[in-house]
Amino acid sequence: MRVITTIDDLKALHKRRVPRMFYDYCESGSWSEQTFRDNETDFDLIRLRQRIAVDMSDRRLVSTMAGQDVAMPVALAPVGFTGMQSADGEIKAARAAEAFGVPYTLSTMSICSIEDVAAHTTKPFWFQLYVMRDAEFVDDIIARAKNAGVDTLVLTVDLQLLGQRHKDLKNGLSAPPKLTPSVMLNLATKWGWGIEMLQTRRRSFGNIIGHARNVDSVGSLSSWTAEQFDPRLDWTTIARLKDKWNGKLILKGIMDPDDAVRAADLGCDAIVVSNHGGRQLDGALSSIRVLPSILAAVGDRVEVWMDGGIRSGQDVLKALALGAQGVMIGRAYVYGLGAMGQQGVTTALEIIYRELDLTMALCGRRDINNVDRDILLIPKDFEGEWVS
Ligand code: GLV
Repeated sequence: MRVITTIDDLKALHKRRVPRMFYDYCESGSWSEQTFRDNETDFDLIRLRQRIAVDMSDRRLVSTMAGQDVAMPVALAPVGFTGMQSADGEIKAARAAEAFGVPYTLSTMSICSIEDVAAHTTKPFWFQLYVMRDAEFVDDIIARAKNAGVDTLVLTVDLQLLGQRHKDLKNGLSAPPKLTPSVMLNLATKWGWGIEMLQTRRRSFGNIIGHARNVDSVGSLSSWTAEQFDPRLDWTTIARLKDKWNGKLILKGIMDPDDAVRAADLGCDAIVVSNHGGRQLDGALSSIRVLPSILAAVGDRVEVWMDGGIRSGQDVLKALALGAQGVMIGRAYVYGLGAMGQQGVTTALEIIYRELDLTMALCGRRDINNVDRDILLIPKDFEGEWVS
């Protein structure tokens, strides 16, 4: 068996093990996938300063994210369909994150329900909310999250409408998959996944089926979004939800300094610079390129995190050195889950931890909370002169 040493190794294994529809769901962006690609490749433009003759013993990666102690400032991002990458995938990912000491965020569009995940974990996890048209459903899911012990709500603010994702449309993405001849052909080569899936009863959207009025099947994500997601979401709605939740609130999906200022004015606990992994507005800049301008606008008023394109501990270090107080990873852990279940998520976290620790040390730093731009070499035009 191939020795797993990188996130890319996990990705290769994920691709081999999981039906194409779900691998593609993970490994795609909207339209031309320009932003999806830029999220990753823009990290490569930033280089690191090698330092020597500095005491590199006693290193520290522990930190806090929105007041929560973390083994390293990396949280698992909300990802839809996670329980289709591996049977009971959300439970596996949550358990791996809990054991590692980093936050796990359960998506509204998860296969395992909030209650399922709570029953299989011992500490509070985070819950990500999409705002639906059905106000009763939103009130109910907020109450369910509270009852399950969730202490942090991650409100996604960039998906009132779904970015067009060609692969998902062509594959007829749904949970459970519709058994068309081409899906059956593909499933026949993924028997390990199939056997696992036959052994669980969790094969559709656990937070929704049986909870949203008149919804007993979700069908495709695109039709569900078109019918149910609330396109009217605005700052008044966000303020109302903040009052209703009355707990720690993270706003995810901020890409513009003006929006960041509104978010900071609202008094949320952190914002996540995010273009939804390149899955929403294709043509938007990469998250890492936008990060400095958001930090310049609100970095002294609110915690700023980022996601998008992180595939290594080196990427994490670059984001933190630019000034982010934390990052979220999505695909990097989903590859692990698809490849090897819970152990794969743990392996992904270990890989990132090791790379982060070693890179920080080779840059001459010992405490992740003290890294700054001084360890980076950034091309003069990195942020660019983008004119609007
Ligand atoms: C959200 O659930 C997505 O598919 O990006």
